[in-house]
Amino acid sequence: MRWTRRDFVHAAAGALASGSLPGCASVALTPVSAPGGVIRLPLRAHPRLTQSGGYLKVQPEGTSTPIYVLAVEGGFVAVSPICMHLGCTVDIQGARLVCPCHGSTYDRAGNVLRGPTLKPLRRYATTLTAEGELVIRLDALP
Ligand code: FES
Repeated sequence: MRWTRRDFVHAAAGALASGSLPGCASVALTPVSAPGGVIRLPLRAHPRLTQSGGYLKVQPEGTSTPIYVLAVEGGFVAVSPICMHLGCTVDIQGARLVCPCHGSTYDRAGNVLRGPTLKPLRRYATTLTAEGELVIRLDALP
Protein backbone atom coordinates (compact mmCIF):
# COMPACT_ATOMS: atom_id res chain seq x y z
CA MET A 1 0.00 0.00 0.00
CA ARG A 2 1.29 3.41 -0.89
CA TRP A 3 0.86 5.96 1.90
CA THR A 4 -0.34 9.39 1.02
CA ARG A 5 0.40 12.42 3.10
CA ARG A 6 -3.21 12.34 4.22
CA ASP A 7 -2.89 8.68 5.36
CA PHE A 8 0.22 9.50 7.38
CA VAL A 9 -1.29 12.52 9.10
CA HIS A 10 -4.42 10.52 9.90
CA ALA A 11 -2.44 7.59 11.33
CA ALA A 12 -0.16 9.88 13.38
CA ALA A 13 -3.14 11.73 14.83
CA GLY A 14 -4.71 8.42 15.80
CA ALA A 15 -1.52 7.23 17.47
CA LEU A 16 -1.23 10.45 19.44
CA ALA A 17 -4.85 10.27 20.53
CA SER A 18 -4.41 6.70 21.74
CA GLY A 19 -1.20 7.49 23.61
CA SER A 20 0.68 4.78 21.76
CA LEU A 21 3.82 6.75 21.06
CA PRO A 22 6.20 6.04 23.94
CA GLY A 23 8.41 9.07 23.38
CA CYS A 24 5.54 11.50 23.30
CA ALA A 25 5.57 13.95 26.22
CA SER A 26 1.82 14.35 26.28
CA VAL A 27 -0.08 11.15 26.92
CA ALA A 28 -3.84 11.09 26.67
CA LEU A 29 -5.93 9.55 29.39
CA THR A 30 -6.98 6.01 28.56
CA PRO A 31 -10.50 5.25 29.78
CA VAL A 32 -10.67 1.86 31.50
CA SER A 33 -13.37 -0.15 33.15
CA ALA A 34 -12.91 -1.05 36.80
CA PRO A 35 -15.57 -3.60 37.78
CA GLY A 36 -15.40 -4.25 41.50
CA GLY A 37 -12.56 -1.74 41.82
CA VAL A 38 -10.21 -3.82 39.70
CA ILE A 39 -8.49 -2.59 36.52
CA ARG A 40 -7.11 -5.18 34.11
CA LEU A 41 -4.55 -4.04 31.55
CA PRO A 42 -3.32 -6.69 29.08
CA LEU A 43 0.27 -5.65 28.36
CA ARG A 44 -0.05 -6.68 24.71
CA ALA A 45 -2.72 -4.00 24.34
CA HIS A 46 -0.57 -1.39 26.13
CA PRO A 47 2.95 -1.69 24.71
CA ARG A 48 3.97 1.60 26.33
CA LEU A 49 4.15 -0.26 29.64
CA THR A 50 6.67 -2.79 28.37
CA GLN A 51 9.21 -0.17 27.40
CA SER A 52 11.83 1.34 29.65
CA GLY A 53 10.41 4.51 31.17
CA GLY A 54 6.97 3.68 29.85
CA TYR A 55 3.79 4.76 31.51
CA LEU A 56 0.08 5.06 31.00
CA LYS A 57 -2.47 7.47 32.40
CA VAL A 58 -5.76 5.68 32.92
CA GLN A 59 -9.16 7.04 33.86
CA PRO A 60 -11.24 4.40 35.65
CA GLU A 61 -14.88 4.72 34.71
CA GLY A 62 -17.02 6.22 37.43
CA THR A 63 -14.12 8.08 39.03
CA SER A 64 -12.90 11.63 38.65
CA THR A 65 -9.23 11.03 39.39
CA PRO A 66 -6.87 9.32 36.94
CA ILE A 67 -4.23 6.81 37.90
CA TYR A 68 -0.69 6.78 36.60
CA VAL A 69 0.67 3.33 35.80
CA LEU A 70 4.44 3.32 35.47
CA ALA A 71 6.97 0.71 34.46
CA VAL A 72 9.72 0.56 37.06
CA GLU A 73 12.72 -1.68 37.51
CA GLY A 74 11.34 -5.09 38.37
CA GLY A 75 7.68 -4.39 37.71
CA PHE A 76 4.94 -1.81 37.72
CA VAL A 77 3.61 0.85 40.03
CA ALA A 78 0.16 2.45 40.06
CA VAL A 79 -0.13 5.78 41.85
CA SER A 80 -2.58 8.57 42.32
CA PRO A 81 -1.32 11.74 40.60
CA ILE A 82 -2.66 13.88 43.44
CA CYS A 83 0.20 15.62 45.24
CA MET A 84 0.19 14.92 48.97
CA HIS A 85 1.10 18.53 49.79
CA LEU A 86 -2.01 20.46 48.77
CA GLY A 87 -3.61 18.33 46.09
CA CYS A 88 -2.35 19.55 42.71
CA THR A 89 -1.85 17.01 39.92
CA VAL A 90 1.74 15.93 39.38
CA ASP A 91 3.34 15.66 35.95
CA ILE A 92 5.47 12.75 34.77
CA GLN A 93 8.88 14.09 33.78
CA GLY A 94 11.10 11.16 32.87
CA ALA A 95 12.26 9.47 36.08
CA ARG A 96 10.37 11.89 38.30
CA LEU A 97 6.87 13.03 39.04
CA VAL A 98 6.86 16.76 39.66
CA CYS A 99 4.14 18.92 41.14
CA PRO A 100 3.69 22.16 39.20
CA CYS A 101 2.29 24.03 42.20
CA HIS A 102 5.14 24.12 44.73
CA GLY A 103 7.73 21.77 43.29
CA SER A 104 7.29 18.60 45.30
CA THR A 105 9.11 15.83 43.48
CA TYR A 106 8.56 12.08 43.64
CA ASP A 107 10.34 9.13 42.08
CA ARG A 108 8.48 6.79 39.71
CA ALA A 109 7.39 4.68 42.66
CA GLY A 110 5.79 7.72 44.30
CA ASN A 111 8.43 8.17 47.02
CA VAL A 112 9.29 11.73 48.05
CA LEU A 113 12.50 13.10 46.58
CA ARG A 114 11.89 16.75 47.44
CA GLY A 115 9.32 18.66 49.49
CA PRO A 116 7.41 20.55 50.58
CA THR A 117 5.38 17.35 50.71
CA LEU A 118 6.28 14.89 53.41
CA LYS A 119 4.13 12.00 52.19
CA PRO A 120 4.55 9.68 49.21
CA LEU A 121 1.90 9.47 46.50
CA ARG A 122 -0.93 7.06 47.19
CA ARG A 123 -0.13 3.69 45.65
CA TYR A 124 -2.42 0.93 44.50
CA ALA A 125 -1.62 -2.77 44.65
CA THR A 126 -0.51 -4.25 41.33
CA THR A 127 -0.10 -7.84 40.20
CA LEU A 128 1.14 -9.19 36.90
CA THR A 129 -0.59 -12.43 35.95
CA ALA A 130 1.06 -15.31 34.10
CA GLU A 131 -1.06 -14.32 31.09
CA GLY A 132 0.59 -10.90 30.97
CA GLU A 133 -2.27 -8.95 32.45
CA LEU A 134 -1.50 -6.14 34.88
CA VAL A 135 -4.13 -6.09 37.62
CA ILE A 136 -4.60 -2.94 39.69
CA ARG A 137 -6.78 -3.04 42.78
CA LEU A 138 -8.17 0.38 43.58
CA ASP A 139 -9.18 -0.60 47.10
CA ALA A 140 -5.94 -2.24 48.13
CA LEU A 141 -2.77 -0.44 49.04
CA PRO A 142 0.49 -2.41 48.87
S1 FES B 1 0.45 20.90 45.97
FE1 FES B 1 2.13 19.80 45.22
S2 FES B 1 3.84 20.81 46.04
FE2 FES B 1 2.16 21.90 46.83
